[in-house]
Amino acid sequence: MTKPRILLIIGGGIAAYKSIELVRLLRKAGYVVRCVITRAGEQFVTPLTLAALSENKVYTNLFDLKDEVEMGHIQLSREADLVVVAPATADLLAKMAAGIADDLATTLLLATDKPVLAAPAMNVRMWLHPATQRNVATLRGDGVTVMAPDDGEMACGEFGPGRLPEPAAIKDAIDAALAAGPAITAMTGQPDFAPANHRPLYGRRILITAGPTHEPIDPVRYIANRSSGKQGFAIAAAAAEAGAEVLLVAGPVDLPTPPGVIRVDVETAVEMADEVRQGLPVDAAIMVAAVADWRAADTSVQKIKKDGSGAVPPLALTENPDILAGVAKSAERPTLLIGFAAETNDVIAHAEAKLAKKGCDWIVANDVSADPMGGESNRVHIVSKDGIDSWDRLPKAAVARKLMEKIADELDARSPRQSD
Ligand code: CTP
Repeated sequence: MTKPRILLIIGGGIAAYKSIELVRLLRKAGYVVRCVITRAGEQFVTPLTLAALSENKVYTNLFDLKDEVEMGHIQLSREADLVVVAPATADLLAKMAAGIADDLATTLLLATDKPVLAAPAMNVRMWLHPATQRNVATLRGDGVTVMAPDDGEMACGEFGPGRLPEPAAIKDAIDAALAAGPAITAMTGQPDFAPANHRPLYGRRILITAGPTHEPIDPVRYIANRSSGKQGFAIAAAAAEAGAEVLLVAGPVDLPTPPGVIRVDVETAVEMADEVRQGLPVDAAIMVAAVADWRAADTSVQKIKKDGSGAVPPLALTENPDILAGVAKSAERPTLLIGFAAETNDVIAHAEAKLAKKGCDWIVANDVSADPMGGESNRVHIVSKDGIDSWDRLPKAAVARKLMEKIADELDARSPRQSD
């Protein structure tokens, strides 16, 4: 059996040094590795080191005529079974997304007909920048597997997502990609993107709310609830995997932004309502957030102190806007509007009442009697005017993916895509 061949493109950046360990792991596993290093990458790793470890010639320059005679760039881009970009810098991802070919690495990436896997590495702000997130979404839409970067402290001292995944994790993603053939799965072992022939939400815009809201009482106290945001974030991840352009309006949660998702953080229900309004129009909106029903009628600018008398300060509440009902009534009502409802009893009856009250198309009723908010799985019933679709208890990621399939079918029925 021939050994799998990897074309490894090494971008610039401090993480480039990790490519040395990656080449070592790949060689140890019996892969044939051919390295291409960008001019910026050469500042961090020498072609000589890579040549010694890969036991192969290292390519650096598009205009190296001798190489064009030996092996043209088209051939170089296609002889591999998989093209791996590690580290994939913000600049490389941007060029890949735009189809720019201004050096050997980017020319190979444009010319290849093989699956491509990118392992990003950059500063946290650069990773979270809407431009990079847009580029990641575009690449995933094009069928490129873009791994999620690791979270942690960065070389520049900042903290957050942006670190190059560990070489062992990249190797696992490579193994998975080769095993899957064209249907590549990413490092987590979960499908990190739908293969090119299965992006049922490509061309759709989807808005998702997630997490709790915090309603301040004074500068140090607030009203909150136990929503973890996990189901909403899993839905955002699944929507991006399915090819949608995703806007996630998130309450205060401690969760990383799924790849390819544009995220706006908010604190209160009023802020959430505002961001949702600005996010319209969309094809589908999925309101997963556990919005606080009430907020303090008056917010104290100073911390409320005990006055020593034992008297309890009055806490007057006022009702928050109902975001879901507001969107249902708006002129920009999405084609498909979905609400969530966590219930402990009479799940279906409550969901049917909510469907009518809120004016949405579906209520995803979530039975939280056995597994309260914050758990890892959900048992849901999709309640609509057409009836009730009850699913078994599933992990939140599986609920999210199944929901995306149902949403894609419904959108295709209600408003076929331009390309269909
Ligand atoms: N929702 C919303 N804005 C609110 C309250 C709820 O958009 N102010 C949305 C939620 O995101 C969810 C759906 O409405 O999709 C149902 O939320 P839930 O809290 O169950 O509804 P309530 O009307 O608050 O009903 P309950 O009396 O059971 O709390």
